Amino acid sequence: MLLIIDANLISPDGCRKADILIEGERIIAVADAGADAALRARATHVVDAAGLLAFPGLIDVHTHLREPGGEHKEDFHSGTSAALAGGVTTVFGMPNTQPALTDAAALDMALARAAASAVCDFGLFLGATNTNAGLKMAAPEMHECGLKMYMGSSTGDLLVEDFGLQLAHFEQYPRERVIAVHAEHEQAVRAFAARRLRRPPVCAEIETGRAIALAEATGHRLHICHVSTRRELEQIVAARARGVPVTCEVAPHHLFFTTGGRWLWDDVPRPVAAPDSFFEMNPPLREADDARFLWNNLAQFDCIATDHAPHTLAEKHSARPPMGLPGLEDMLPLLLTAVHAGRLRLEDIARLCCDGPARTFSIARKGTIMPGYDADITLVDAAREHELGAGRIYSKCGWSAFAGFRARGAVHSVYVRGSVAFDDGMIVAQPGSGRRIEQAHRA
Ligand code: DOR
Ligand code: ZN
Ligand code: ZN
Repeated sequence: MLLIIDANLISPDGCRKADILIEGERIIAVADAGADAALRARATHVVDAAGLLAFPGLIDVHTHLREPGGEHKEDFHSGTSAALAGGVTTVFGMPNTQPALTDAAALDMALARAAASAVCDFGLFLGATNTNAGLKMAAPEMHECGLKMYMGSSTGDLLVEDFGLQLAHFEQYPRERVIAVHAEHEQAVRAFAARRLRRPPVCAEIETGRAIALAEATGHRLHICHVSTRRELEQIVAARARGVPVTCEVAPHHLFFTTGGRWLWDDVPRPVAAPDSFFEMNPPLREADDARFLWNNLAQFDCIATDHAPHTLAEKHSARPPMGLPGLEDMLPLLLTAVHAGRLRLEDIARLCCDGPARTFSIARKGTIMPGYDADITLVDAAREHELGAGRIYSKCGWSAFAGFRARGAVHSVYVRGSVAFDDGMIVAQPGSGRRIEQAHRA
């Protein structure tokens, strides 16, 4: 049995010094540090975590791991390695791969590949198409973590822009499961593109309103991905007040950058210069007013999720660079730095990156350090300063838009279901040690 002693255990409700006893893959006891001598008597291996913070392993519900079809920029092994390096022990992968994950066969194939090479735990979304509403009812044995609907187009060819076809998914996908949406209004996107304008806020605001209308009409659970503007969040808050079951996430880049890749905080050094294309993603970076509104209303969010979207340097330097940036390795150091700067509390990180994602997607046994839960634990050295992007980058893309940023707070080591998976800067987990998550859906 493994005992982690004297850790500063972080939960949404507070911090306390604790000892954590682990048997096999599960946490079996948590006690105030030193309070329960019996714990130390039972331990066969002791890890002294004095001076370190212990978070539940972070859960990132929005990543693009690129396998199958985009393995030149990421695969399940490299993407989950990047996750571990960033303190993330569970990732949800998006279905905009090649082929896209839009039927049972593609999903099974991708899940099998993930099971063979992932080093952290995972779930994969099923992708909605114009013709596959009702698929889940026809194939209930599918093991997707939720349905992802691109209401507006982005990387890949997944798109359901017609309101009636969107509605069919909300009517037919099982009610207890979550429909996550990329909400940008396709007609608005195209109209602005024709005028050489990059997806202004109104694109997201219109489609978020439509997504809420779909959830309200059907009572179906809805999750809005990468909320980036004040008006999206205001609509979500108003919808919740009416009882609409809607959750939402925000991405680190929409919190830390504003249009053109400017750094939001005047009093924190900004990252070194990088190509403009590093700061191009869907939905785009927003004005400072929007970013500040997101910060001031983090209490309204359920999750922080990276939208980790790796592309190669060559692609990003090309004439038509693809949209997106990697985020898995930078999210936690960025948030820890925000804590150090007094803009966030450690408890907020535990809520938004651990407990909130687990609740939003009804993930079994994760997101909390409690007896009976999986022993997914991220130990953090809150005092360690380091430059983002300066050390080894595990994502295959090999770059970071946050490079040059001096972070305060670093991942020390990571445990996945009781086994050390990342330690001292190195991945020690074996390919294939990651496992598909389980869900315990509320009826
Ligand atoms: O910037 C983005 N990149 N936004 C998306 O919606 C997709 C993602 C990707 O897959 O590259
Ligand atoms: Zn998206
Ligand atoms: Zn995405």
